Amino acid sequence: MYNDFYGFKESPFNVTSDPEFFFPSANHEEAFSHLIFGIRQRKGILAITGEIGTGKTTLCRTLLNRLDKNIKSALILNPYFSEIQLLQLIVKDLGIEGNFRNKLQLIEALNQYLIDQALEGNTVVVIIDEAQNLKIRQLEQIRLLSNLETEKTKLLQIILVGQPELLDKLRLDSLRQLNQRISVRYHILPLKKEELQQYIDHRIHIARKDPNSHPGVQFSNEAVDAIFHFSHGTPRLINILCDRALLNGFVQETRLIDQPMVCKCAKEAINV
Ligand SMILES: Nc1ncnc2c1ncn2[C@@H]1O[C@H](COP(=O)(O)OP(=O)(O)OP(=O)(O)O)[C@@H](O)[C@H]1O
Ligand SMILES: [Mg+2]
Repeated sequence: MYNDFYGFKESPFNVTSDPEFFFPSANHEEAFSHLIFGIRQRKGILAITGEIGTGKTTLCRTLLNRLDKNIKSALILNPYFSEIQLLQLIVKDLGIEGNFRNKLQLIEALNQYLIDQALEGNTVVVIIDEAQNLKIRQLEQIRLLSNLETEKTKLLQIILVGQPELLDKLRLDSLRQLNQRISVRYHILPLKKEELQQYIDHRIHIARKDPNSHPGVQFSNEAVDAIFHFSHGTPRLINILCDRALLNGFVQETRLIDQPMVCKCAKEAINV
């Protein structure tokens, strides 16, 4: 709606998890390094947690975009399925073809694929987002998949990504074995105050029609402080606030976003 007014090719503060807009905050970069380390070292099971809207899905998608060619991957986004459906999805997303009628056949096909990939020097990664929603039996199934190994190395790298409830689940007595096998863990934190201006600039820069032109909009220092105050640095809330503030600026025909505008938007858009 306001894109032409500010000279954007697309809206800079969409709430989709578009990796094109990935901002390498110190915390997100560290999470990234943990993932790359875990995958390269074939650590088996990794867990990434973070509160709602801190950028977990965005991180997964960015990771997929940046993986080397010798890393084969599957991304499971909404694991509200039975164990067999979860296996079917993993097999399908990895591109394994065939008509598998039961769990045993699926696991056999997966095992064969993993052995073939290992022989070719490839690594296979399965990322499961929203892993806090997995049922105990599915988590147990994941542990069994991580048992697929040769004498020397784990054949399948599994990344569990979820809200902090995932950690509570993993502490359950029945999931002790799985919990013990998670060798790399990282908790994503919201952005720091000093990163917020850069985050806003970064997203605006990517959204601009002409990257060499003047930014087209400016957030005053006080406006940025207010955005931090209301969002506590959580990217999704930042995006909702900034998007609403841009709409406000457009309606008022100004390209300067100030503090009163942000305060008004916070009431309207994020109910504070
Ligand atoms: N590092 C980042 N760089 C740029 N944008 C980000 C970053 N982290 C998060 N965002 C933005 O914040 C919003 C929420 O991110 P995302 O959906 O990845 O969060 P989430 O942690 O997966 O949330 P949920 O807990 O609800 O699943 C998205 O619009 C995303 O683009
Ligand atoms: Mg998510």
